[in-house]
Amino acid sequence: MAVNVEVPLSGGDVTEGVVRVGETVRRPLGAHSPAVHGLLRHLESVGFEGAPRVLGIDEAGREVLSWVPGEAPGRPLPAYAVTDEALGGVAGLLRRFHEAVASYEAPEGAPWDTQASGLDGEPEIIGHCDVTPENVVFRGGVPVGLIDFDLARPTTRLYDVVTALRHWAPIADPADRDWRLGQVDVGRRVRLFCDAYGLGQDGRREVLPAARLRFERSYEAMRKRAEQGGAWARIWRSGAGPRIRRAQDWLERNWDEIDARLV
Ligand SMILES: Nc1ncnc2c1ncn2[C@@H]1O[C@H](COP(=O)(O)OP(=O)(O)O)[C@@H](O)[C@H]1O
Ligand SMILES: [Mg+2]
Repeated sequence: MAVNVEVPLSGGDVTEGVVRVGETVRRPLGAHSPAVHGLLRHLESVGFEGAPRVLGIDEAGREVLSWVPGEAPGRPLPAYAVTDEALGGVAGLLRRFHEAVASYEAPEGAPWDTQASGLDGEPEIIGHCDVTPENVVFRGGVPVGLIDFDLARPTTRLYDVVTALRHWAPIADPADRDWRLGQVDVGRRVRLFCDAYGLGQDGRREVLPAARLRFERSYEAMRKRAEQGGAWARIWRSGAGPRIRRAQDWLERNWDEIDARLV
């Protein structure tokens, strides 16, 4: 087999032109890339194993990242991605990432992608901000790596937690969920995630209000981005707005039940 065969990676459905070449991944550079590379280099320097390494820029002007061995769940979700072990594992991985990134002092004015939503409050860390199933690499049913740091930016730990819960609990209308998650007890899964992350009582009380605020901000941020065309316009046309609205309604209807599990 030729060593430089380019295998398209379309799993994430956002960035066009992501390919695997041997043990590397090539992705188009964006305005945010220098900021993301600084972050990935920090993670490497503190010995955090759960993220790709930056290997440089190739002759085609693409970023070269290390391939994280394993598999990121696609849709429909495979059985291994919906277990309690997977859920707790993602929470633990997110916690370890937060510990590793806490010591990172990003350069002043680093060009993070800041068009997406945020919560109120002083940023505490550089968050991943996009912990979807497609962005978590599993090995043997265990979540071992976060990939796709394109949306990383200064935020709070809570923002990363509620974003992960949106996708992994999931905080979504049953009609919009992957079939394997259609009937799950979301309150129980939110609790399990917060336990595995090690979120304290104060943090738990903030989870649902933060999820509520994030939905509203995400709706606005996505609507604005869609106006610029490209992948976000495609995602918006595929019904992202109504999906957020249905998730908001579902959250309000199930608030008390989830909250009772949480605190
Ligand atoms: N470094 C990596 N290691 C392993 N798999 C990867 C890596 N980078 C990308 N992939 C795979 O390619 C898919 C798309 O890549 P991603 O960087 O998430 O792009 P997008 O911006 O389109 O979401 C991922 O969901 C994953 O399946
Ligand atoms: Mg992705």
